[in-house]
Amino acid sequence: MKTSLAGKWVLITGASSGFGAATALKFAAEGSRLLLGARRVDRLEAVAQECLKAGAAATHVHRLDVSETPSVEAFAQWTRTLTDKVDVLINNAGGAHGIDTVANGKDADWEAMVQSNLLGVMRVTRAILPLMVQNPGASILNIGSIAGRVAYEGGSVYCGVKSAELMITRALRLELSGTGVRVGSIDPGLAETEFSMVRFKGDATKSAKVYEGLEPLTGDDIADILVFCASRPPHVCIDELLVKCTAQAAIHKVHRQPAAPAKA
Ligand SMILES: NC(=O)c1ccc[n+]([C@@H]2O[C@H](COP(=O)([O-])OP(=O)(O)OC[C@H]3O[C@@H](n4cnc5c(N)ncnc54)[C@H](OP(=O)(O)O)[C@@H]3O)[C@@H](O)[C@H]2O)c1
Repeated sequence: MKTSLAGKWVLITGASSGFGAATALKFAAEGSRLLLGARRVDRLEAVAQECLKAGAAATHVHRLDVSETPSVEAFAQWTRTLTDKVDVLINNAGGAHGIDTVANGKDADWEAMVQSNLLGVMRVTRAILPLMVQNPGASILNIGSIAGRVAYEGGSVYCGVKSAELMITRALRLELSGTGVRVGSIDPGLAETEFSMVRFKGDATKSAKVYEGLEPLTGDDIADILVFCASRPPHVCIDELLVKCTAQAAIHKVHRQPAAPAKA
């Protein structure tokens, strides 16, 4: 039977756009209490307003940079002033920076990816775990990627950190065995969010090309899945889920409809 998410404390990192913002809205519609973090606080506040309209029992926002331990610690401290338990932790903050080959890679891009996708998950989980381990049925849901399962040219570090995320998820599940806390990795393929604009450093033409001629996943698609996972009964743990749009049969096999000819 479905577990009600009404009144549950749901903490989402990277809630200012994309999957994170869409997920906040879906949990809001379930009547959850939301703890939202990201660096762009103005965007978080706008998401929080929408969440209240959608039915959230409460929304709280705080600046969070998962790439800095002091910021994560301050966020966790703030969380403890609001609640002594977290029911759902969604480690979503992250993304790809650049698409250079190893030979042409930039230190700043590599460091940003390792700091947010890999160390960010570690820092946030370490800081929030004390609010979860006495709470059987709680869920930790990490956002991985198809890139963590299959390598592609220009994706070396992004593939590497998402692969690490999958292994961290698996190790954490073993470490939490017996606590009743569930740990899962949700691994999306092509999805249209701000992801490509970040990867291509604001180049809208390159970003649009990623989604040309196909119907990609949306933030809502992933948000629905996260709500589904968190609302399973406490004895059900969804360990790993690879989710792709139908057009993406595999990382290197994406079916694109040809563009319609221009009208004379
Ligand atoms: N879209 C895809 O195709 C796709 C596929 C598979 C996996 N993913 C993964 O899904 C997750 C969400 O990405 P998205 O597609 O929703 O892209 P997005 O729209 O760019 O959202 C990324 C979110 O992460 C936050 N973030 C990034 N670095 C952060 C940091 N250092 N500290 C705190 N927050 C940070 C951003 O907020 P601020 O900038 O405000 O901090 C933003 O809210 C990422 O982990 C990404 O790798 C995406």
